[in-house]
Amino acid sequence: MDDAELDVLLRNERYPRAAAYSGRWMVDGAMGPNPVWQAEALTELMPLEPGMRVLDLGCGTALSSVFLAKEFGIEVWAADLWVQPDENLRRVVEAGLEGRVYPVQAEAHALPFAEGFFDALVSIGAYHYFGTDDLYVGYFSRFAKPGGRIGIIQPGLAEEYETLPPPHLEPYWQWDFCAWHSPGWWRRHWEKTGLVAVEVADRLPDGWRDWLQWNEACDLDSGTPGREEAQMLHADAGRTLGLTRVIARRNS
Ligand SMILES: C[S@@+](CC[C@H](N)C(=O)[O-])C[C@H]1O[C@@H](n2cnc3c(N)ncnc32)[C@H](O)[C@@H]1O
Repeated sequence: MDDAELDVLLRNERYPRAAAYSGRWMVDGAMGPNPVWQAEALTELMPLEPGMRVLDLGCGTALSSVFLAKEFGIEVWAADLWVQPDENLRRVVEAGLEGRVYPVQAEAHALPFAEGFFDALVSIGAYHYFGTDDLYVGYFSRFAKPGGRIGIIQPGLAEEYETLPPPHLEPYWQWDFCAWHSPGWWRRHWEKTGLVAVEVADRLPDGWRDWLQWNEACDLDSGTPGREEAQMLHADAGRTLGLTRVIARRNS
């Protein structure tokens, strides 16, 4: 597929900022639901001001880090475990953001930063890999200044089910989808610590449609990230699968 065709498949009026970025660049860095769209959805409700220092934890190929630095004039520490920082530095340099996006290899439980260093923390399509532990937000939130915001967005179900999988998703289910929690679950998970004040915990409106559009475009282009996930989203048709968005402030 040529790049112009791909751009057409990825046209989505919901994300006007993301429309300025090449579809090829986004698909080449794909690791899950489009991180640039997710970053735009998160920052609709999470204010970022020029000059802020922001941690993007679990940034993968750093597409969201590049997007956030460009769109909001912030400095971003692009931290990830599986993707090597030299690979991300290449993308950062290509985007003309050397000195504004800093790729770092980091494990979520051993972050190489000073407490209170960041004005804001984000995690896109990644927090559910390490953040479901009751105590994790107590560790993570320390890296934000008091009053600083923490925003996450990742796959989630609309509600918590007594048993998993929901029957209609049985043919597609993988065990680790058990970490796809609902907005209500995340709200309680964070609020019960008393360390953060949750401002937003919602299902991204039509998030499942964006996720499906993205998967179908990726599949048509290169067969990734997997047709099965698109079939699952079709079968569900927005009943329970979607993207969960949570924004909180670190208490003083
Ligand atoms: C599905 S990928 C999403 C990457 C990117 N944010 C995106 O949306 O395309 C999940 C990312 O979480 C990161 N991750 C998983 N466990 C981690 C951990 N314990 N510490 C740091 N990063 C982790 C992985 O390295 C991976 O890049």
